[in-house]
Amino acid sequence: MDAIFERRSIRKFKTDKIDNDTIRELIEAGRMAPSAKNRQPWKYLIFSGAKKEVLLNVMDQGLDQALTMVPEQAKPGVTDAKNTLRIMRGAPVIVIVLNTNGRSPFRSELDIFGRITEICDSLSIGASIENILLKATEKGIGTVWIANTFFAHEPLVSFLKTDDQLIGAIAMGYPDEVPVMRPRKSLDDILEFID
Ligand SMILES: Cc1cc2nc3c(=O)[nH]c(=O)nc-3n(C[C@H](O)[C@H](O)[C@H](O)COP(=O)(O)O)c2cc1C
Repeated sequence: MDAIFERRSIRKFKTDKIDNDTIRELIEAGRMAPSAKNRQPWKYLIFSGAKKEVLLNVMDQGLDQALTMVPEQAKPGVTDAKNTLRIMRGAPVIVIVLNTNGRSPFRSELDIFGRITEICDSLSIGASIENILLKATEKGIGTVWIANTFFAHEPLVSFLKTDDQLIGAIAMGYPDEVPVMRPRKSLDDILEFID
């Protein structure tokens, strides 16, 4: 409960590295998450140093490309992704999160069972990511969960040489800010007892 209440999205990091054993501990927490039909559809790629810069340059170019392609109403989303990219550049570690059963979100050939499977796999990966964020909080490591990689999905998966779905990323590092809690809906707004 302490980690649940203390966790914040951290968007300003110190330059200190996180050692590989610590990262293994975080991913171990992710490994223990529940998953639909126990499919465990997650894979985590850890980027740091020069390789992280190359990855983020690919994302940058992908976002530039997206700006020229998306309809006018989607442009603020891409601009927001540019802001997320700036935050990612400041993090010593970027964890790329893959859905090993998923494929490009831009394909349209999924039938109803395929869509249900994909929703369940996304939920499972969400549970795994949350375990990682909570373990990180417990160890004094700051994280922010990132979905804005979707705007550069195709260039990124091509760079990663994978057919898996890139479902997101986690930027992590030792925190260089102490954000206040962002507002939450009240318990009464989200809870209903039905009998
Ligand atoms: C699925 C998901 C995607 C998110 N994507 C981004 C993102 O791309 N960029 C970003 O800065 N924050 C992102 N966030 C962080 C949210 O903005 C943040 O969790 C929310 O505002 C609540 O703040 P807190 O995490 O400090 O409690 C994401 C969070 C989730 C759960």
